[in-house]
Amino acid sequence: MTEEDTKDKGSQVNRSVVEDICKPFIVGDEVYRQIRDVFLNEIKKGLCKYTHESASVKCLLTFVEKLPNGCERGKFLALDVGGTNFRILLLNLDGGENLKIETASYELTESLMTGPGRDLFDFLAECLSTFIHKHDLQKEELNLGFTFAFPLKQTELNKGVLVTWTKAFSCSGVVNHDVVDLFKEAINRRDDIHINNIVILNDTTGTLISCAWDYRETKIALIIGTGTNTCYLEKTKYIELFNGGVNASPTMIINCESGNFGSDGSLDFVRTPIDLILDNNSVNAGQQIYEKMISGMYLGEIVRLILLECINAGAMLNGVHSEEISTPMSLDIKHMSEIEAGEPGNDSATRQIFEIMGYKRPSDEDCEHLRYICNVVSTRSANMAAATLATLVNRVGDPFVVIGVDGTVYRMYPNYPERLRKKLKELARPEYQFCLKVTEDGSGRGAALLAATVFSKKRSP
Ligand code: GLC
Repeated sequence: MTEEDTKDKGSQVNRSVVEDICKPFIVGDEVYRQIRDVFLNEIKKGLCKYTHESASVKCLLTFVEKLPNGCERGKFLALDVGGTNFRILLLNLDGGENLKIETASYELTESLMTGPGRDLFDFLAECLSTFIHKHDLQKEELNLGFTFAFPLKQTELNKGVLVTWTKAFSCSGVVNHDVVDLFKEAINRRDDIHINNIVILNDTTGTLISCAWDYRETKIALIIGTGTNTCYLEKTKYIELFNGGVNASPTMIINCESGNFGSDGSLDFVRTPIDLILDNNSVNAGQQIYEKMISGMYLGEIVRLILLECINAGAMLNGVHSEEISTPMSLDIKHMSEIEAGEPGNDSATRQIFEIMGYKRPSDEDCEHLRYICNVVSTRSANMAAATLATLVNRVGDPFVVIGVDGTVYRMYPNYPERLRKKLKELARPEYQFCLKVTEDGSGRGAALLAATVFSKKRSP
């Protein structure tokens, strides 16, 4: 054998080792169909009053029974909290098609996201005060939609008790408290602004409402960004925990909190050993299992753990561990995006990421393998997102439904929407057509629109 032949042989062996390590992440349609069907069972458990308490997919009531009809008028504020940036919006509606939005964005430091809740709410109130003064709104009758992108137990539109923190938040003194109350207390402590009414909602709910303003057929929303979640319009007769009496609307938005799908073991058939390691190392082990398999906060970590296995097996990077690759959460979804955005055969982005990860001279083969790993992990994410959406498309059962989507993974990750759409088409019943619409700023805009739906000034006769 020539030296060249030996090298080729070595490459083939490395490739097959990498493929073997990735194999558990590549599953057939029968598995996605199973995820779709198991998710339906979980939804039913969440909606049923006897199983709701123990259900992992909580199906939380939102009390949003009415979607905007386009005739809303006035100025409405929104506060959108759920990630490292939080936003304040001012929406001006003229009762017709015109909608004007002013936005301001503020950064939440790690200490605000993990320190005492009081500091977080004081900061939100301070930014709101700055915003109101800047836009000279002190004398207006202000109504506000408050998007809080975490699981909330609601008993009314203006009450939301935080069930648990998810994603990177862990402020003390907030879980089991009504966040509307906590926010009002912070506003009162300042004593320089006044808000008439506040309604509270999840970011998926906001996305659905916002998309419904543009497309009347919207009945489902998906967020796939740092975290993931879905919501949909359910018939109130199936929402056993809701007792709306004779005046109840026929439908209400249900916040599935689908990120927690699988925390009762129902996704064990598709979890890989790497998914188990990631969960064990996380701050909320055992929770948000589906979110940990598909959302932006965790995909980079899955790739890092696969890479480590490939290195340990001697199939990549000459078996050498860099300090960076050994550091949990050091690989970001942004890096994966850049790698997959590069043209095949052009490794410059991949090389840059390797450099960030502490490798100066990766081989062409290492680059090819890393790209392959990213593709496997992001494709599983898109397919799993499609599986639960298929459940909802089938559940809604309309001949045509619009799905509002927001979140950086969907908006920024190369080819993610195409992959998701393709799998959804395969998994939803063929008689139910659907269309996915990006609803940028959906969560904030939806919050202001909800406030508008509830508090809109009546047209003068
Ligand atoms: C997490 C939150 C959920 C939110 C989602 C997307 O899963 O628990 O409420 O909708 O992230 O931001």
